[in-house]
Amino acid sequence: MSNTTNESQRPAESNRQTTDSATRTTVGESSEKTRDEWTDYELDGEPKLSVEDLDVYYGDEQALRGITMDIPENSVTALIGPSGCGKSTFLRCLNRMNDRIKSARVDGSVELEGEEIYQDDVNLVELRKRVGMVFQSPNPFPKSIRDNISYGPRKHGEIETGLVARLLGDDSSERERELVERCLKQAALWEEVNDRLDDNALGLSGGQQQRLCIARCLAVDPDVILMDEPASALDPIATAKIEDLIEELAEEYTVVVVTHNMQQAARISDQTAVFLTGGELVEFDDTDKIFENPESQRVEDYVTGKFG
Ligand SMILES: Nc1ncnc2c1ncn2[C@@H]1O[C@H](COP(=O)(O)OP(=O)(O)OP(=O)(O)O)[C@@H](O)[C@H]1O
Ligand SMILES: [Mg+2]
Repeated sequence: MSNTTNESQRPAESNRQTTDSATRTTVGESSEKTRDEWTDYELDGEPKLSVEDLDVYYGDEQALRGITMDIPENSVTALIGPSGCGKSTFLRCLNRMNDRIKSARVDGSVELEGEEIYQDDVNLVELRKRVGMVFQSPNPFPKSIRDNISYGPRKHGEIETGLVARLLGDDSSERERELVERCLKQAALWEEVNDRLDDNALGLSGGQQQRLCIARCLAVDPDVILMDEPASALDPIATAKIEDLIEELAEEYTVVVVTHNMQQAARISDQTAVFLTGGELVEFDDTDKIFENPESQRVEDYVTGKFG
C-alpha cells in the first residue's frame, strides 16, 4: 500500500518543514526531539548488520540523517515510515545499491558481520550475492523459470552445463536440477510450477513472479535478504503467501523488509524501525513495543494512523 505522494514532490511550505531536523515535520506530524535511547536496541548476540552514523545525500538534499542501528541475524526487521522518509534509501545502503545512483553520497559505516562494506576493496558482486534484494514489482528475467533460478549460480561459475561442460566432464545438470527444486521449494512455489520449469517466467501470476524473484535471490545463497515493499503490488492471497514465506525465511536468513502496511509489519516482523520525515530514525525496538507502547509520540501517532 504505497503512498503515491512523495514528500519531496510537495512544496516545502505545505509540508511545514524546517531546516532543523529535530523539529522537521510532515503534515499532521507534531514536533518532538528524538532521544538517542529510542533507537538504542539491545541485541542478545552480535549484530548481522551494524549501521553507524549513516548520512545519505542526493546532490544537496539530505535523505538520511545520522542513522545508527544494529540489525540482528535470523529475524525479520521491518522498516516503516511515511513516503519519502528514506526507507528505500536505507535499504539500498545495506548492499551499496546507492553506488549506482550518480547523485547519491553515503557517509558513515555499515558493517556486515563486523566487516566494513564501505571500503574501496569490497567486491560489490560478492557483497550483493551475500546481501540480496527483492523489489516492489516482481522483475523476473524474460527467461524460463529454471533459467531465472540458475542465472546467478551460472554467472558465478557454480553451475556449468552444455556441450563443452559435458566434454570436460563437469556438467552440472544434476546440481542445477537440485538447486532449482530446493529454491522453488524454499520460496513455496515448487508445487505450482514443477511441471512447467521450461515455461517463460513472464507467464506466471504477479504473486508467483514475486516468489520466483525470492527463489532467484536464494539461489546464490545469501545471508541477508532485503525486500522493498515486496507485497504491495499483490492481492491479499498472494500477499499472505509472501508474508508466510518471509517468516519462514527468517529461520535461516536475516530479512529486512520495507512495508507501508502496519498490520503486515506487526504480523511478520520481530523488530521495527520507524523512520520519519527528514530521514531520521526515530525509534527502533521489538515490534510489539513499537505498536503497543512506543516511546515517541510521533511514532504512536504514525502507527495509529494519525498522519502519514
Ligand atoms: N535517485 C534519487 N535521486 C534524488 N533523490 C532521491 C532519489 N531517490 C530518493 N530520493 C529522495 O530521497 C528521499 C528519500 O527517498 P526514498 O525513496 O528513500 O523514500 P521512501 O521512504 O522509500 O519513500 P516511499 O515510501 O515513497 O517509497 C526523498 O526525498 C526522495 O525524493
Ligand atoms: Mg521506498
